[in-house]
Amino acid sequence: MKFFIDTANLDEIKEAHSLGLLAGVTTNPSLVAKENITFEDRLREITEFVEGSVSAEVIALDAEGMIREGKELAAIAPNITIKVPMTPDGLKAVKEFTSLGIKTNVTLIFSANQALMAARAGATYVSPFLGRLDDIGFNGLDLISDIADIFAIHDIPSEIIAASIRHPMHVTEAAKNGAHIATIPYKVLMQLFKHPLTNAGIDQFLADWEKRNV
Ligand code: E4P
Repeated sequence: MKFFIDTANLDEIKEAHSLGLLAGVTTNPSLVAKENITFEDRLREITEFVEGSVSAEVIALDAEGMIREGKELAAIAPNITIKVPMTPDGLKAVKEFTSLGIKTNVTLIFSANQALMAARAGATYVSPFLGRLDDIGFNGLDLISDIADIFAIHDIPSEIIAASIRHPMHVTEAAKNGAHIATIPYKVLMQLFKHPLTNAGIDQFLADWEKRNV
């Protein structure tokens, strides 16, 4: 499973990139709205150093509007992936973007059927939202597992992005259940480093080093 970061914050993206494990970035309108910069300028800044996929979500709800917005966003850099919501208009837009060679990420996936339809329309990525399903008492990880099984049975090349990740166990379980990618908030990404035995081990090594005789 690959790591994407789910943020529009440049400092967070830079820090994650410096770790050497960052395969891509996802943004959404809520994340971009927190930043004090135009979406286009932020995408230019991100794509200056991130080589992997950078998902940029359209705001329009009609296919024509999505296609217009998506073409403008995709023109910013070759690694921009256009993110569209899982609606009939979203899939019409996916079909058009696919014919233009523009990568797509179908977002707000909450069922296996939605994922299958998005994949069959040509989506490069499908994004099931774990945390938001958990919030309403459903098991988001079962959804990841169902989608992974269906894609494997039918030899479907679309990649599954486990989204709406809320804690480290979501990351482990997304990997175990067949997600190709997890898009992770910065805070959770940094939590993945933490283990009390790692810290205790470092402290012990340093303490022993200080006691050396030569
Ligand atoms: C995915 O691409 C979305 O940006 C994101 O994971 C949504 O997460 P949330 O449910 O925490 O807002």
